[in-house]
Amino acid sequence: MRGGEGWTRPWWRGAVFYEVYVRSFADSNDDGIGDLPGVTSRLDYLKRLGVDAIWVTPFYPSPQKDHGYDVADYYDVNPEYGTLQDFDQLIQSAHERRLQVLVDLVPNHTSDQHPWFRAALSSPDDPHRALYYFADGKPDGSPPNNWESAFGGPAWTKDESSGQWYLHLFAPEQPDLNWWNPDVPKEFEKILRFWLDRGADGYRIDVASALFKRKDLADQPMVKDPMTGQAKPDATFAIIDQPPVHEVYRRWREIVNGYRPDRVLVGEIFEPQRQSRYILPDQLNMAFALIRAKWDASLWKRSIDVDRHALHGPGQMPSWTVSNHDVVRQVTRLGGGFVGRQRARAALLLLLGLPGQVFLYQGGELGLEEVNLPDDARQDPFFFHSGGKQRGRDGCRVPLPWHKGQPNAGFSKAAPWLPMPAGWDDFAVDAQAGMAESMLVFHQRVLALRRPLSGSLPNDFKWCPAPEGVLVYERGPFRVAVNFLARPVELSSRGRLLIATNPMVRRRADRLSLPPNSGAWLDLAGGI
Ligand code: GLC
Ligand code: CA
Repeated sequence: MRGGEGWTRPWWRGAVFYEVYVRSFADSNDDGIGDLPGVTSRLDYLKRLGVDAIWVTPFYPSPQKDHGYDVADYYDVNPEYGTLQDFDQLIQSAHERRLQVLVDLVPNHTSDQHPWFRAALSSPDDPHRALYYFADGKPDGSPPNNWESAFGGPAWTKDESSGQWYLHLFAPEQPDLNWWNPDVPKEFEKILRFWLDRGADGYRIDVASALFKRKDLADQPMVKDPMTGQAKPDATFAIIDQPPVHEVYRRWREIVNGYRPDRVLVGEIFEPQRQSRYILPDQLNMAFALIRAKWDASLWKRSIDVDRHALHGPGQMPSWTVSNHDVVRQVTRLGGGFVGRQRARAALLLLLGLPGQVFLYQGGELGLEEVNLPDDARQDPFFFHSGGKQRGRDGCRVPLPWHKGQPNAGFSKAAPWLPMPAGWDDFAVDAQAGMAESMLVFHQRVLALRRPLSGSLPNDFKWCPAPEGVLVYERGPFRVAVNFLARPVELSSRGRLLIATNPMVRRRADRLSLPPNSGAWLDLAGGI
């Protein structure tokens, strides 16, 4: 069967997904580390928040060199996080609450502790070497080519016993699998079925576009890095979007559809221009439209337009997201403190009014900020492999505060795996619940309003004329207005105010007053 959709609208169209970073979400046994029973115990919280599905970050047995993205066994649960029975319980409890669960699949690399890689290192002619990329260095003793690791330094590490090098696009403890070897796709089909058999509703696919590397392992041409302006090897030449990757996803689509066509495949692919090659009826359902623009109306408008125009299929709309476990927290990016939080609210109204899916990252609903951890508390390989030049991603992974006034903000009786800064419990769930103006209640209200809208409003929108620094769009009878400026603006607008980012937003006569960094949803027809 081709195509992921039947006659009715599948559940995931327009759905709200919530990323659970397991290690930091909720700790059920007070060892300072989040776990699967912890997630299960907080499903009512997520239901009340108003999400449709959770994406659970990797919980497999792993030496945790990249916090679970280094998988040593794809068929089990890391004892720190629980057992297979705990996974089953999570699925059952989630489904009882009509929450869907996506599992995080890591196909690009294994852990260096995976039995395949251990065998590969055991002898220079072990057949398991063919499951990875082993290659001779250059005659001058340097690595086989100029490819770089995303965490800094060469993408090759020398296996001293054979003198050959092995490839790792990430940490040396994450050797890349050789997808040209048919045993690799065969194994992943088994893995795919394993969690689907246990009730998973789909997958988030890690590093989804990089599985195949050019067979000749040629040097990459140098290009200018748009971020730093410095020359760097061009990964699109040899790694990204190699044609056979699409065959893999066609096969996965068939497998997934064999269970239930509405099970979803979400690819970790960010560049909008490349997504349309993957988001197809016979491949993936979604990728991420991650908006990281500075707080500037024209930049946000451009980002939104680039993402929406990148997709071509009927009914296709982006999966809007502002943060995940790899990027600096949104409130901090938008300026931090009170202003950062006001802007984060306005950004939420801007994105959640659009057609398409939404991915939230845990803690965003509490308005958490990036934590500046002391160096000796940092754990991210990105920090270590860049020699401390990159601060790494620990700052957005500090465990969630659940209870005000309790030790470790009620996350755990034991010291959490990443330390919490002073005052972290001010953001606790129980300090915000029921407080009309809190970030948490704002999220709950926005999601509750959005739910009936996402099915009834047109699957499209149009920008309306607005003063510079202000964005206004309409979707049928629904209007969204956001003021990016540091000064108040007055617009002419009719309609009923559905929700606003702060109580100073006013609709009077034919005017809408928007204080600095604010936004509003309006009902133009009176019937929404
Ligand atoms: C993805 C993950 C990131 C991880 C990397 C390597 O980008 O989101 O956390 O470090 O893949 O698996
Ligand atoms: Ca625990």
